[in-house]
Amino acid sequence: SIPILDSVSSCRAWRQQAFSDKKSVGFVPTMGALHEGHLSLVRRSLAENDLTIVSIFVNPAQFAPHEDLATYPRTLPRDLELLVAEEVHVANAVRSPSAVFLPGVRDIYPSGISQDVESQTGTFVEVKGYSHQMEGKSRPTFFRGVATVVTKLFNVVQPTNVYLGQKDIQQALLLRKLCSDLLFAHPDVDHVHIVPTARDPVDGLALSSRNVFLSADERLFAGTLYQALQCAESVWTQGRTKAQSVSAAVTVVERGRELAALKGVQMKLDYIEMNNSDTFEVLDDGADKESKLLKKTPVILSGALWFRQTRLIDNIVIEAH
Ligand code: PAJ
Repeated sequence: SIPILDSVSSCRAWRQQAFSDKKSVGFVPTMGALHEGHLSLVRRSLAENDLTIVSIFVNPAQFAPHEDLATYPRTLPRDLELLVAEEVHVANAVRSPSAVFLPGVRDIYPSGISQDVESQTGTFVEVKGYSHQMEGKSRPTFFRGVATVVTKLFNVVQPTNVYLGQKDIQQALLLRKLCSDLLFAHPDVDHVHIVPTARDPVDGLALSSRNVFLSADERLFAGTLYQALQCAESVWTQGRTKAQSVSAAVTVVERGRELAALKGVQMKLDYIEMNNSDTFEVLDDGADKESKLLKKTPVILSGALWFRQTRLIDNIVIEAH
């Protein structure tokens, strides 16, 4: 079994003990419904820290009022089983997760939390200039909710190292920025690590807690987003423009949509875009990999796809060459 810290005070006490024992603490923040993607973060943390703590908290503030907070998958008993089963061998020792932080909504938001930004009171964290592009364009209050809850979690856990997934690349880069802008010591910005996206081995679908919402037929077409992004990447790498790369990806999605429709599956493109990974600015239509700035800055190629009420996201980071 694994110790469950179900309040801020018990988590603080656990952290104080780790400070006294001079143990490094790796932290993996999650909303539960754990899968291999989460577990790959846990394994990195186990390998690189004396202790590993995983938080499970479905954060109301990052769901807009019309979004899926009520139906977001909650699978706590299975999450705990998966965590207990994780082991990493380091030197002659075996490491498993040391604790699970499982706060309630009142612990994290002592005066309550409204999902409606207009009626919120109290303290919120905004990473201005980095929250309105890509995911933020479709979900304008999402990153405010994420930055706020993660600040609170960091204040309690005070991790030595944090592990975030590339699956949510904008979130990971924005949280790194938050740590440097707010001068966080725990974690120091250099200790915010981004772990590659875990994918289905057959069609490359990025693993996600929301994949359970897909019907068997929808699942057959869910790999379309990654295939579209890979197509755009190869067009870009061949030296074509951003407009041509995005348009190639949109064509892949459009063909997928037509095939899916024959099976009665509704699939709809939300967006595909290419952005500068430093500024998150949208690339100019005529930009290509030879553009001056992009010779030094990686490009984020990202997108989102709807299957009825289920929204899937994915991205590829194209390194500068
Ligand atoms: P959640 O969606 O549960 O994801 C928790 C962490 O797992 C995030 O860092 C996410 O990027 C990572 N992750 C998810 N799927 C992954 C995959 N296929 N491969 C690699 N990593 C993956 O992201 C959140 O929760 C929340 O916004 C949170 C940061 C916990 C704040 O509430």
